[in-house]
Amino acid sequence: MDTRNNDEAYVNFNWDKLGFGLTPTDYIYIMKISGKDNFSEGSLSRYGNIEISPSAAIFNYGQGLFEGMKAYRRPDGGIQLFRPELNALRMKNGADRLCMPSPPVDVFVDAVKKIVLANQRWVPPPGKGSLYIRPLLMGSGAVLGIGPAPECTFLIFTSPIGNWYKCGPSMNLYVENEVPRATPGGTGAIKSITNYSPVFEAVNKAKAKGFTDVLFLDAATGKNVEEVSSCNVFIVKDNVILTPPTNGTILPGVTRKSIIEIALHLKYKVEERDVPLMDVLTADEVFCTGTAVGVTAVASVTLHDKRTVIMVSEPRVSIFGAPSAVIVEGFFLIRWGFLVAGD
Ligand code: COI
Repeated sequence: MDTRNNDEAYVNFNWDKLGFGLTPTDYIYIMKISGKDNFSEGSLSRYGNIEISPSAAIFNYGQGLFEGMKAYRRPDGGIQLFRPELNALRMKNGADRLCMPSPPVDVFVDAVKKIVLANQRWVPPPGKGSLYIRPLLMGSGAVLGIGPAPECTFLIFTSPIGNWYKCGPSMNLYVENEVPRATPGGTGAIKSITNYSPVFEAVNKAKAKGFTDVLFLDAATGKNVEEVSSCNVFIVKDNVILTPPTNGTILPGVTRKSIIEIALHLKYKVEERDVPLMDVLTADEVFCTGTAVGVTAVASVTLHDKRTVIMVSEPRVSIFGAPSAVIVEGFFLIRWGFLVAGD
């Protein structure tokens, strides 16, 4: 069944202009959770501001998590999600760490399906982008004394998006060697909202110098690479695919996990281990993975003023570089596509 909406707004919307910016869509999904597992019936309402107490735990103590997912329009008009259950499980892990109740996997996935269907006229045509889905879980109940909120809100909004980076098919990374993204024992491994604004300054400085993003080093030794502000990093060296292990400071990305599984399926050697910055600077290929960035090649890595150019136009070992990102995305959807609409 072709679920495309042929109304004028869809037909006339300029899908080619989409970047990674907010285009509010028609509906949001809201569910309240009080106590440990007292879930309200989740419901859809028109997109708009929500009312929340000034003493909500999210405002005062940063008790909040988010997820990032995408719905894709298939060439036959159907709509697909990508491994939504993994986002549900990651939200649950984060909720345990931040002392919040979280929706069970089936409730989470059902809510995501509902919001995608309600906003389906905003799922871009194939090849023009995707509908970005942003589930949030927050301590919305009022608190003053430090402690978890008595009530949480699970909310989902969506926005059609195009490319994350405006830089084109590859990224130029700046190595940040003063500010770490995450510290051992901290919240780097969960999608806590508090992981993101502390890196704004480093990213803004790098962008002001013309770089696409920042590559963070580990807080403990400052010698190994960890991840980029919004995505995981992989290197290919001597035919081995390497990525830092998810040992507490690395976000366990859904795309990261999928790439590892695809690489093993294709009989590549994959090692999840510490990756010294020196290995990155001498890699055959470097690429980043994430929901927002997809699979994006890294063209150069700069430490201080020394730019190391990584060949992307003629990769020496290439299956995951820029030219094959589309193939990888196709592989993803064939293997893990989760149909929401269509047949
Ligand atoms: C995602 O890839 O969905 C993320 O969460 C990164 C984000 C900061 C846009």
